Amino acid sequence: GNIYLKDYEVPRFLIDKTELRVEIGDKDATVLANLTMRRNPASNYQGKSLSLHGVQLELQQLAVDGRALSKAEYEVNGEELLIHRVPDNFTLTSEVLIRPRENTSLEGLFKSRTMYCTQCEAQGFRKITYYLDRPDVMSEFTTTVVASKSECPVLLSNGNLHDWGALDDGRHWATWHDPFLKPAYLFALVAGDLSLVEDSFTTCSGRDVALKLYVEEKDIEKCGHAMDSLKNAMVWDEEVYGREYDLDLYMIVAVDDFNMGAMENKGLNIFNTSCVLAHPSTTTDDGFKRVEAVVAHEYFHNWSGNRVTCRDWFQLSLKEGFTVFRDSQFSADMGSATVKRVEDVNMLRTVQFAEDSGPTAHPVQPAYYMEISNFYTATIYEKGSEVVRMIHTLLGPELFRRGTDIYFERHDGQAVTIEDFVAAMADVSERDFTQFMNWYRQAGTPRLSVTSDYDPQQQQFSLHFSQSCPPTPECQEKQPYHIPVSVGLVTPSGDLPLDAKGNTTQVLEITQPEQTVVFEGITEAPVPSLLRGFSAPVKLSYPYTLDQLSFLMGHDSDGFNRWNAGQQLSIQLMQALVTDYREGTPLVLDQRLVEAFAKVLAETDTDKAMQALVLMLPSEYLLAELAEVIDVEAIHQVRRFMCRELGRELRDTWRATYLANSEKVFEMSGAAVAKRSLKNLSLRYLLNGASDDSLSLMHTQFMEADNMTDRLSALNGLVNDPREEARPLSEQALDKFYNDWQHEPLVLNQWFQTQAACVLPGGLERVKVLMEHPAFDFHNPNKVRSLIGVFCNSNLINFHDEAGEGYRFLADNVIALDKLNPQIASRQLTPLTKWRRYDLTRQALMREELARVLAEPGLSRDTYEIASKSL
Ligand code: ARG
Ligand code: ZN
Repeated sequence: GNIYLKDYEVPRFLIDKTELRVEIGDKDATVLANLTMRRNPASNYQGKSLSLHGVQLELQQLAVDGRALSKAEYEVNGEELLIHRVPDNFTLTSEVLIRPRENTSLEGLFKSRTMYCTQCEAQGFRKITYYLDRPDVMSEFTTTVVASKSECPVLLSNGNLHDWGALDDGRHWATWHDPFLKPAYLFALVAGDLSLVEDSFTTCSGRDVALKLYVEEKDIEKCGHAMDSLKNAMVWDEEVYGREYDLDLYMIVAVDDFNMGAMENKGLNIFNTSCVLAHPSTTTDDGFKRVEAVVAHEYFHNWSGNRVTCRDWFQLSLKEGFTVFRDSQFSADMGSATVKRVEDVNMLRTVQFAEDSGPTAHPVQPAYYMEISNFYTATIYEKGSEVVRMIHTLLGPELFRRGTDIYFERHDGQAVTIEDFVAAMADVSERDFTQFMNWYRQAGTPRLSVTSDYDPQQQQFSLHFSQSCPPTPECQEKQPYHIPVSVGLVTPSGDLPLDAKGNTTQVLEITQPEQTVVFEGITEAPVPSLLRGFSAPVKLSYPYTLDQLSFLMGHDSDGFNRWNAGQQLSIQLMQALVTDYREGTPLVLDQRLVEAFAKVLAETDTDKAMQALVLMLPSEYLLAELAEVIDVEAIHQVRRFMCRELGRELRDTWRATYLANSEKVFEMSGAAVAKRSLKNLSLRYLLNGASDDSLSLMHTQFMEADNMTDRLSALNGLVNDPREEARPLSEQALDKFYNDWQHEPLVLNQWFQTQAACVLPGGLERVKVLMEHPAFDFHNPNKVRSLIGVFCNSNLINFHDEAGEGYRFLADNVIALDKLNPQIASRQLTPLTKWRRYDLTRQALMREELARVLAEPGLSRDTYEIASKSL
């Protein structure tokens, strides 16, 4: 059943102190817990019984105040331990046996390759010991880890190392103490044979912090970028948010088997290797950016998440939305702000908008859930970040900073709600956020339609806004949103000033279903530049002509909107071609797009990363999201046609751009990254245009590349080249790549991804063969995501093959995965949940597979929730 936000009750009992002794043996582990507990004075619960969470625990003994309980004094019901009578103040002692080696869910205590580690968010701690596993129960933790000294020389937990020693049976122990109160989801423990990279940081108040990165010995050369990113994040959070680190030690551990990117456990972050290890020979430029962003994200959680945490899991976006916003500001400051914004909006418009219009749509603050693990979504993270960004836009940077200062000061050490965050913002700005809260409480992407008229006599330019939001599963009738719309008025001679100070951008606040804004003293008809910087997560429409879009592409002073105008131009043309394709009309490319591309390629003063982004056509995924009924085949053929025509018509320019941006010596700088992205895009267009030299250029680049960005980009080109001559080269390249990198799991992920994404016919067969490859591992989430995830999410033309084999393949794998790792299984199911978007034949096939998953006996709560909500 569902759990509802409205049913929230304060905890009946509190746990002031948590003392754990975790003994890891060859077969299993025992966990001894001593909990100092008392009745919560804030609760009106009068009963005598105590209910604790526990999952898959084998109870060995249980005592209250040192007295062992008899079987009659407690009972275990499913995931609950009920003790019939407890005093008001007491110590609860329990000993349980757990089996980390058999734990394939990667939640709780589990084994990854050679090390033991934990993942407790959201509700994994209950797989370690009986506890009040809820974020509003905060405790002082002391943890002793015991394990074999030879197998696990390194023993870690949260906080500071307090004491350690050896036992005479070959085991040793370490006791850690975390002085900060924390909920159980922030607990962590690691035991293994790990190598260490060390550095240090001096905080603004002069305290020295030891920074320790623990990795497997073979990865010791791949830690520099994460360490630099961590130090940059620490300085940035002091400068931009006034947040200083609070322990003497900050540790990061890299593990290979991990359900998500990383976890912000207090003082002991645990990272998926893919989000922390980086080296130019094994990691692409995008991979470097991701490491920087995730390291910063987890570090920023120390304040937005740990010092101030969530009252309950309905408040998940309180920490995630805010922290994503913080890490996006950080990445913008470290590199190009416009590039970062474009990347984020692309992701939002494809993944989050699709989620928001499908069966699993939910508000940023959900009102109910079945399984919280299913709510680590693009809506909670990315839309949540957009909502915080809108507050930042409405308040401006200074007031926003005062708001966050007050928020951190008021709630330090507390578990709070989204309302508490917004109240701090309301207090500093004296603004009313009542209507704004609809962003948190209503699901769905609002539509904002805009029209304009110009009156030359009155010198008035008017914008007419009309907003609406389609119904979503939890809410049919939507209240209007408070939408900050950043606008400029553009003319051939530049932006018009919009106020006495000469500002050319103004933030309009749209709050009504219909609203008109009039600009006075406008002497010539401008083209409006709407939603600059993507100031609100809405679907905007304005009846732009193609010429107006080309004009904005060249003249808008807002970099984001220059890019966006180009995208809208391409989208309009692609949508028209999709219609032509469906009607059997021969496809013809509008020359205006060729001209627009030529102009962008000729620019010399634009940032090259931005140039590359403007020259990248909208993805099939985005076009699918925008379509009424998704015609996979038409979208694929039209996009290919456009790539081919653009490649052909501008062949010489692409070649010149390719050569001009090729560097002899590898460099890792913003400018060099930008050059590589423009260079590799040009090479791809040469190939798309089937230029004669493109194959040999690709092949040479693949053979001679001294970095993973160039090597992988060439490999991707070869693998997707439809020409017969390309086949032997592509096979040779794949073999060589495998042979060169078979000892690097992260590189093999890329090898799987490249093949899973190959759009040539026969995709499913290739993936099925790869599932049998010795390097593939069904237990490793990165491998599952690289092969199954990439095929089903990104290889639309192959996955949606009319015969429905792709759907059957996915359902089979979800059923198998569900027995091992429910979180990963339910995540992989996503593509099938979108069945309503396809033609009737595919709808039927997809539903049939969903129904088959749902009928599976013993289905996890995770997969059950997604499958049942989607059917
Ligand atoms: N808090 C982590 C982060 O955003 C992610 C935890 C994800 N948990 C989960 N059950 N999927 O950094
Ligand atoms: Zn997070």
